Amino acid sequence: MESKNTENNKDNKIREYRTDDLIVYWDAKSCSHIGNCWNILPQVFKPDEKPWITMEAATAEDIIKAVDKCPTDALKYELPEGSKVDPEMAKGPGWVDYKKDEVTSIKIKMARSGPYKVEGAAQVFDAEGNFLKQSNHIILCGCGKSGNRPFCDGSHARKE
Ligand code: SF4
Ligand code: FES
Repeated sequence: MESKNTENNKDNKIREYRTDDLIVYWDAKSCSHIGNCWNILPQVFKPDEKPWITMEAATAEDIIKAVDKCPTDALKYELPEGSKVDPEMAKGPGWVDYKKDEVTSIKIKMARSGPYKVEGAAQVFDAEGNFLKQSNHIILCGCGKSGNRPFCDGSHARKE
């Protein structure tokens, strides 16, 4: 299976990793570095390597299941034309066209380590009222150390 990635393209904020069966996108700015992905598939998601995603190290189906567990919108997937993956199993929360049913209330859960996980459709604005993001998967910084505030960038877990 041939694969390619655009990790070295510095102009690309959203990086792309592709095989004949699956395309994975990664938006570094949205990543909280909490690591659900590498806990589920450590052979695929290797944060200390370049490229950090090795698409050949697991089946497309297993990668889809891992991406569905990403708590932010950092990881997304879609099927390229001709993919052998069953399209029905590729419509989870990580699918690029996934739309959650509209919810009337959102939950905000505080983690002991610092971040706040926002569950449900939410919009985030900056102090001047400028729109920042709308998503069903948002993790806000509660520790004050993030370089991407108000979003968590994993700084709470880094050793000084
Ligand atoms: S936010 Fe998503 S991409 Fe980033 S580390 Fe967590 S699971 Fe992986
Ligand atoms: S809570 Fe994660 S960087 Fe602040």
